[in-house]
Amino acid sequence: MSGGPQQVLLSTPPYDLIILGATGFTGKYIVREALKFLNPSSSSPLKSLALAGRDHAKLTNALKWAAHPLPSPPIPLLISDITKPQSIRHLCTQTKLILNCVGPFRRYGEPVVAACVETGCDYLDICGEPEFMERMEAKYDGRAVETGSLVVSGCGFDSIPAELGLIFNLRHWVGKSTPSWVEAYVNVECSEGMTYNFGTYESAVLGVANADALVQLRRSRPPRRRPKFTGGAPPKGPLIEHKKEIGLWAVRIPSADSSVVRRTLSTLAQNPQQIKHMNTFWSSVKPARFIVKIGTKSFLEILRCVATGMFIGMFAKNPFGRWLLLTFPSIFTLGLFNKKGPSEDEVNNGSFKMWFVGHGFDDNGNDKEIVTRIMGPEPGYITTSIILIQCAFVLLAKRHVMPKGGVLTPGIVFGPSHLQQQRLQENGISFDVISNHNDDKLEK
Ligand SMILES: NC(=O)c1ccc[n+]([C@@H]2O[C@H](COP(=O)([O-])OP(=O)(O)OC[C@H]3O[C@@H](n4cnc5c(N)ncnc54)[C@H](OP(=O)(O)O)[C@@H]3O)[C@@H](O)[C@H]2O)c1
Repeated sequence: MSGGPQQVLLSTPPYDLIILGATGFTGKYIVREALKFLNPSSSSPLKSLALAGRDHAKLTNALKWAAHPLPSPPIPLLISDITKPQSIRHLCTQTKLILNCVGPFRRYGEPVVAACVETGCDYLDICGEPEFMERMEAKYDGRAVETGSLVVSGCGFDSIPAELGLIFNLRHWVGKSTPSWVEAYVNVECSEGMTYNFGTYESAVLGVANADALVQLRRSRPPRRRPKFTGGAPPKGPLIEHKKEIGLWAVRIPSADSSVVRRTLSTLAQNPQQIKHMNTFWSSVKPARFIVKIGTKSFLEILRCVATGMFIGMFAKNPFGRWLLLTFPSIFTLGLFNKKGPSEDEVNNGSFKMWFVGHGFDDNGNDKEIVTRIMGPEPGYITTSIILIQCAFVLLAKRHVMPKGGVLTPGIVFGPSHLQQQRLQENGISFDVISNHNDDKLEK
């Protein structure tokens, strides 16, 4: 391997950030969010921006869509194809930070991470695929530390709300009170009946299809230090649970969020050099087991989620089954995913609530529950865009106090920052304490 970052990066790259995959369904929403802040004045968090993709006409249309009803601003459109490593490497020399929206990441993500790591450029993405994230960590963390490239996957709805929401809940266990486990209930609502774009579905299907690769990867790595949990494991409970206090039917899901949180907690237990300087913050976070459940108000809706999960589980591992799943997404998800993606009305009318129900003990060893909640607009495209752009701003503004480099989780990098307290709250994603005692009534 040749050269440190200084030899490759221009001394001052022309762009604060480049959005790669700007033509995608999600990429366009991310461009729209970035444009709200683009201003060369010194007080703006975003003074310069470029968009990258493989087709100039598509990039022009994406910018036009994102700028509407205003005319398109004069933003450079850079041609870049992840199958041409030179083109990605060139992008990395033009910017401090790449926002990668090209997915499925297990298929397309690695050349972008590799180029960022080699050039010392920072990298954020909206990946929700644990195998990709853990493979990148295994393969590139050491070199990223050397070149000073910060690589953080999962900076969208996957997995920032889970990471920051859990940290928010855990920081309320003060004094001798101790959490044992926290259950997150994710509820998405839309008056129009929400659907999602194929890209997310394809990533999920490929994730299940390659679940064995993740198991093998984990077995091939040295064991990580485990966090010290207090109290027992959560009870198994029924497949479908009725959580009366928050009015939801819920089912446990194998989500990227729980594996990202597990990595964050074991990084804390290992306490590597990269995060030692943040120990004051982390000493206020007591580790707890973490479980994610999807919750809906309607019992039929939860059956739809269960059926979709069962179809993916049954068919994704077999090539013909996978072909069926990916050719007829609407049928196998009972209308939840399609190739067109949701309409703008569906996206604009969507919203989410994510409840964190923490179970543990108070100062006297009695049972205690702390319930916190995150709320925000439609999760897949609006909240994901807000989160990714705000993560980018935190990184641009506070780079000097962050780990110098490495492949790290969003919780480790953004947990101690002002992302949750200030930036997300100011941009429509709220964090609230709902109850801090067993006998409080929950507000639905
Ligand atoms: N974290 C979250 O909560 C969250 C939310 C939404 C989406 N996502 C993830 O984001 C990813 C994208 O989803 P999406 O629905 O936006 O998918 P999409 O509409 O299919 O967009 C894919 C993007 O990748 C680009 N691309 C494909 N091959 C490329 C190549 N060889 N070189 C350069 N660019 C290439 C496409 O460019 P062309 O236009 O040229 O084809 C397009 O811009 C998925 O992995 C999804 O799971 C995550």
